[in-house]
Amino acid sequence: MRPLLHRAALALALACGAPAAAAETAGQAASAEEWDGLPGGAGRDEVYGICGACHSLMIVKQQGLSRDAWEETLDWMVEEQGMPELDRDTLDLVIDYLAEHYGVDSRDSARP
Ligand code: HEC
Repeated sequence: MRPLLHRAALALALACGAPAAAAETAGQAASAEEWDGLPGGAGRDEVYGICGACHSLMIVKQQGLSRDAWEETLDWMVEEQGMPELDRDTLDLVIDYLAEHYGVDSRDSARP
């Protein structure tokens, strides 16, 4: 029963520029549906927290892009759409996740 301590920890997590940290904590016990259908794996927390902050994850899930194209898309997100620039590790994590789950293969298999 130390609500103050808890708040301090949360503030610290947010101050570190990691909006995903809060989502991660909240999502720990969440079912798959609560992730808007994002498949599990490293990077899901980040994609859910960072990308879902501005738009539906549908817009992300319906893409099927190569790793390079994902990287370009995220550059564009930062330069034109106001996404905060991610540090290199987070960016790699996010791109790896996207390329793995929403890569060119997934686009092919999702085609009608
Ligand atoms: C600060 C807000 C913001 C954040 C954060 C953000 N986006 Fe976006 N994103 C936008 C906006 C605004 C658009 C719509 C642009 C348009 O259609 O003109 C968009 C569009 C897109 C599109 C559609 C591109 C297309 O060709 O139509 C994709 C894919 C996308 N975002 C992926 C992501 C991913 C992946 C992340 C997380 C790493 C992310 N976005 C984070 C604002 C954001």
